[in-house]
Amino acid sequence: MTSLVPATPIYRTSPTDPLIIHGPMISPHRPDPAPYERITVTPAGTTIGAEIGGLTLSGDLDEETLAELRRALLEWKVLFFRDQDIDRDSHREFARLWGDLEQHPFFKYTQPGQTEADVTTLAKGIDSAGVENSWHNDVTWHATPSFGAVLRAVELPERGGDTLFCDTAAAYETLPDAVKARIDHLTAEHDWLHAFGNGMPKDAVDLLRPNLPAVQHPVVRVLPENGRKVLFVNSVFTTRILGVSEEESNELLAILYRHVQRPEFQVRLRWQPNTVAFWDNRSCQHYAVSDYFPQRRVMDRISIVGDVPVGP
Ligand SMILES: [Fe+2]
Repeated sequence: MTSLVPATPIYRTSPTDPLIIHGPMISPHRPDPAPYERITVTPAGTTIGAEIGGLTLSGDLDEETLAELRRALLEWKVLFFRDQDIDRDSHREFARLWGDLEQHPFFKYTQPGQTEADVTTLAKGIDSAGVENSWHNDVTWHATPSFGAVLRAVELPERGGDTLFCDTAAAYETLPDAVKARIDHLTAEHDWLHAFGNGMPKDAVDLLRPNLPAVQHPVVRVLPENGRKVLFVNSVFTTRILGVSEEESNELLAILYRHVQRPEFQVRLRWQPNTVAFWDNRSCQHYAVSDYFPQRRVMDRISIVGDVPVGP
């Protein structure tokens, strides 16, 4: 007879690498208790990612629809919308519903005469290979990293070019208690230099530096809406954990980066032309699979200003 009582999970470590732990990685999904009536919400992953149906994105969404999207974003961290054959104005105005718009300082304005934050077209191909294939939250080297970003597929390679998203709330919750206790009150430094400054002439770095100093954020961030803790270090922009030795900083970051990369916390988006992904940059990381060079992949992107990360 099959027991209805779940077995106690057994965790094993790798004989060659104690950082690798095998066993169930279960972070309970927390469904929003209220029903969705204006939109359809179809989960795409266990705790992260949902496909939203029933609307076309624009700046004209009514309060009820917007409130449901807000709940869905909090619940699922990244929302996917198919068949959004929308223009730049609708794309921009949809993003504006969520906060002030943000111009990424390293993405050039792509529209003639553009002076304000707007949709940026990011074209990858033979001239510019995709290099976003590492796990990160966007612009954590800002004092106020993006709240979120809205990305729309314009032109896609024949195959490949998927984007993966990882639930950093689930990642935090499934860490061993001993690791949580070590990181809960730590602060980390974040810097753009290793990514966007890579290969940049020194005089250009010197010119940018006064306006773009390294910044500090809590390693564990608390979301003000629901009090959930999320891991807030990433392998692209976090340079070190402060207040511990360099050795301990490296050890902790290695543990956290490996943990974040577990497939249990991930959802993978297979784009179609006119698919839009809207992610909460506070509670998920993303990874753009770079497996289509030298084919072209063109995306329209806009991001929304966030707030100062707060620790526990
Ligand atoms: Fe990114």
